[in-house]
Amino acid sequence: MAGRKTWRVGVAGLGTVGAGLLTFLAEHPDFAPAGGRATVTGVSARSRSRPRPFDIAKLPWFDDPVALAASPETDVFVELIGGSDGPAKAAVEAALKAGKPVVTANKALIAEHGAELAALAEAQGVPLLFEAAVMGGVPAVKMVREALVGDEIRSIAGILNGTCNYILTEMEATGRSFAEVLAEAQRLGYAEADPTMDVGGFDAAHKISILAALAFGCAPNYAAAEIEGIAGVELLDIQLCRDLGYRIKLVASADRSPDGVLVRVYPSLAPLAHPLAQTGGALNALFIEGARTGRIFVQGPGAGSGPTAAAVAADIADVMAGAVRPVFQAPAGELLPFTPVDPSKSIGRAYLRLSVKDEPGVIAAVSEALAEAGVSIESFLQKPVENAPDSLKGGVPIVLTTHAVAESVLKAAIEHIAGLPAVLDRPRLLRIARI
Ligand SMILES: NC(=O)c1ccc[n+]([C@@H]2O[C@H](COP(=O)([O-])OP(=O)(O)OC[C@H]3O[C@@H](n4cnc5c(N)ncnc54)[C@H](OP(=O)(O)O)[C@@H]3O)[C@@H](O)[C@H]2O)c1
Repeated sequence: MAGRKTWRVGVAGLGTVGAGLLTFLAEHPDFAPAGGRATVTGVSARSRSRPRPFDIAKLPWFDDPVALAASPETDVFVELIGGSDGPAKAAVEAALKAGKPVVTANKALIAEHGAELAALAEAQGVPLLFEAAVMGGVPAVKMVREALVGDEIRSIAGILNGTCNYILTEMEATGRSFAEVLAEAQRLGYAEADPTMDVGGFDAAHKISILAALAFGCAPNYAAAEIEGIAGVELLDIQLCRDLGYRIKLVASADRSPDGVLVRVYPSLAPLAHPLAQTGGALNALFIEGARTGRIFVQGPGAGSGPTAAAVAADIADVMAGAVRPVFQAPAGELLPFTPVDPSKSIGRAYLRLSVKDEPGVIAAVSEALAEAGVSIESFLQKPVENAPDSLKGGVPIVLTTHAVAESVLKAAIEHIAGLPAVLDRPRLLRIARI
């Protein structure tokens, strides 16, 4: 079509996502869903000579992503480097200060510096878009920021880290330990050489912090997130939970109440038939609860070159369409303060696994101690285990689930029963997801 504007795109970061984007744009030179045409006019990465799945020989090369961001030849800057600070942040700031639209897949950057970057983008009147930062190919950001802005979202909960979900799924399917499955996932390239961001729950916390900000109209507050990863999830708990009718998932959730916002990432129990429990392998899934819409459930690929690049391309299309909305749900200066709720006040059901001496009267002693502390037991399971893990310290496991109880009461009860003479180790606590 004659007269179409050509947008000159500078891409910093040519790894998994950058490679996906350049491959897509090379294979679809006619990609113009919003009327304009996108053409890559500059690239930046660490190594110019590293073999890439596409030819960059004819593309202008920038050693410094900040120079690419500020270049007069760049109309749209796409940041696919990663990391909350360092070159990614410097380059995004440089592009915004130069009045250029920015597209990024960087959840750490948005979760930790989103409010200040939003203020900068809005002062310049340019979009800062990050669809790929949450759930990769699943359009969660646009759904929450745009499509659901006419509703009042009360809570969001989901599986936001494919690596953790893959590891938990494999542990259950193959009966192998966390360490064994993680090592295999690293060999196969499903987990990073340094898996801390994923298995520590930090990646999921970045994503749920962004969703909380979009859903509740507040600034992202990653520092307020309660985070526990999956490194402490034992195969024994996976098996015992299954016997009780649950599956362990790393659930990231954000809830709004009159007291404020609670953002958490915990290994949590989901009933076996629940869609979150049914979300296996590297898939992601999300529930959104709106005051008027009710419940929405989406599931799909949360990572990977193709799906993530598709989300980046969609943001480039939005830039070409010319719509400029607030970066979060409201203009940066009008975002609500994020008041974190004290997690000790939160109320929920729990799973406790104890290792106890195999002698009469133990169950009665535990039940009595819990009753005294104000914790009411919902179900009890005592089962001999084959190949008892070291963590049982020579004892036998007893497992119980509780009725809803305040976290502070539960924690005090755990301290109490940990001190009983028949209890051999600190009880293992897992929350039952409120989904
Ligand atoms: N992978 C996914 O499925 C996925 C999904 C959603 C969001 N994301 C996000 O997307 C971003 C990119 O992830 P990725 O998986 O594509 O990462 P990656 O494969 O590690 O690629 C990172 C790229 O950044 C380049 N880079 C590193 N430091 C640089 C610097 N100082 N200057 C210029 N370039 C530099 C690297 O250059 P070299 O190639 O020369 O080393 C590499 O090309 C991250 O924010 C990530 O969280 C990824």
